[in-house]
Amino acid sequence: MKVNCCFLPHDIYPQSLFDKTCVIIDVLRATSTICTALHNGARQILFASSIDAAKNFYDTNNISGSFLLAGERNAQKIDGFHLGNSPLEFTPDNVKDKNIILTTTNGTRAISKSKNSKKIYTISFLNLSAVAKELYFQGGDIEIVCSGTDNEYSLEDSLCAGMLVKELLNLGQKADLSDAAKIALAIAIQYGGNIERSILDSYHGKVLISRGFEPDVKYCARQSIMQVVHQVEVNDIID
Ligand code: MLT
Repeated sequence: MKVNCCFLPHDIYPQSLFDKTCVIIDVLRATSTICTALHNGARQILFASSIDAAKNFYDTNNISGSFLLAGERNAQKIDGFHLGNSPLEFTPDNVKDKNIILTTTNGTRAISKSKNSKKIYTISFLNLSAVAKELYFQGGDIEIVCSGTDNEYSLEDSLCAGMLVKELLNLGQKADLSDAAKIALAIAIQYGGNIERSILDSYHGKVLISRGFEPDVKYCARQSIMQVVHQVEVNDIID
């Protein structure tokens, strides 16, 4: 198993993905929200690259009732949408048996950029161990894709990438780590001792705190509390 890490979606070479499994990380907050929604009974999540693409899909497919529009711009709920991108909004009452169309600033873009790969999974701290086990049992080469924040590296995604590398090694995987995967592992060794403190201190963590979302940041720091393994199908991506 070869493991590489892209610290930004920009680092992906789409033509090199065909035989790889991509694992998408957007700890704050898209992949934590996806994990929570599925844990709380959402049926399916579709990923729209823009607000217009999400609205068009919703309007033209006559799907109101069973579908919810969700997402953010500048961390705030989009006007006219049912839900924002706070995982704490995705309660069983709100999402059980619903299909969700999600559009976010960075996370959905990373998913869309990875669509040429053999398989796509999403991961967060919340379901770290469950996804690591799935990847371990499947074998095959892995491209970890950090969403970053507005084209900048993010500590929380890089830390989650490193923790995934660490879990794979702990599971006994004889992984051939690229230099980027080794750098992610070094970040996990440096910052993994206190995930909550690390992500409260990250750039996007501080932005979210300043907008009233500190409970989200603390929630997203919880490790391996859910067994969700979420695979994105190409048809789930609305461009
Ligand atoms: C994103 O995709 O950019 C994020 O999930 C932003 C956020 O809602 O914190």
